[in-house]
Amino acid sequence: MSSKLLKVTDLSVNYGAIRAIQNISFDVEEGEIVTFVGSNGAGKTTTMRTLSGILPRAGGKMEFLGQDISNAPSHQIVRLGMSQSPEGRMVFPDMTVRENLLMGAFARKETKAQLGSELEHVFELFPRMKERMDQKAVTLSGGEQQMLAIGRALMAKPRLLLLDEPSLGIAPILTLQIFEKIAQLNREGTTLLLAEQNAMLALSMANRGYVLEVGQIVQSGPARQLLDDESVRKAYLGG
Ligand SMILES: Nc1ncnc2c1ncn2[C@@H]1O[C@H](COP(=O)(O)OP(=O)(O)OP(=O)(O)O)[C@@H](O)[C@H]1O
Ligand SMILES: [Mg+2]
Repeated sequence: MSSKLLKVTDLSVNYGAIRAIQNISFDVEEGEIVTFVGSNGAGKTTTMRTLSGILPRAGGKMEFLGQDISNAPSHQIVRLGMSQSPEGRMVFPDMTVRENLLMGAFARKETKAQLGSELEHVFELFPRMKERMDQKAVTLSGGEQQMLAIGRALMAKPRLLLLDEPSLGIAPILTLQIFEKIAQLNREGTTLLLAEQNAMLALSMANRGYVLEVGQIVQSGPARQLLDDESVRKAYLGG
C-alpha cells in the first residue's frame, strides 16, 4: 500500500482562455508538511482551489486516499478528509465565531456531542476563539480571523489540511504563534499542504517543497535542500 495521501498527475487549470496551471505533478505523504513556494500569480491558490473541487480542471488527475477525486464535488472532498483554510480567510463576517466554526463541519453528519468535542479541540488550539465565541467574525482582528479560518477547516476533521497564506497580513509575532500551532497540528497527526509568500518560514517547517513559476513546477525536493539552493535563495529568500 502506498503511503501517498494525495497524488496529483499532470494537472492543468484554465481561467477562460488563460492557462493558469500547466501539467503539474506532485504528491503528499501521510504525516508530511509540504509547501508550495512561488511569487504572486504563480498559481498556488489556483492549485489549492482545484484540489478542493472549487475550480474545474482542464486536465490531469487528482487522487486522495487512493480515490480518484478529479471530478468530485467540494462537499465530498471535505467528507473524505481534505479541508482548506483559504487565502484571505473568507470568514462569514456577520456570523459569530461559533457559527463560523460549525459551518466547517457542515459536510459531516455529526452528533451534537461530536461537534462539541471538535469545538473544544479548536478552542484548545486557539483559546482566543473561545473567548470570542459569541462575537461576530467581522469584529475580529486579522490574526484572529486567520485562527478562525484554520479552526473552521479543522472542524471538518481533515487528514489533509490545506493552508493558503496563513501569514497574509498578520504581524510577525502572531504569524510565529500561528505557525507554532500549525506545527502542533502536524505533530498530532494532521498532514499539511501549505502555500506561503514567506518562503523562509514555510520551508523552515516543511519536509518538502515545490517551487511554482507561472503555473509550472520548476523545482522540488527536501525543504532543507531548497533552503540551501542558490536560485531559490536569490528568487524567494532575499539572496
Ligand atoms: N478568477 C480568475 N480569473 C482569471 N485569472 C485568474 C483568476 N484567478 C487567478 N487568476 C490568474 O491565475 C494566475 C495564478 O493566480 P493564483 O491566485 O493562483 O496565484 P498565487 O500563486 O496564489 O498568487 P499569490 O501569491 O498572489 O496569492 C495569475 O496569473 C492570476 O492572475
Ligand atoms: Mg494565492
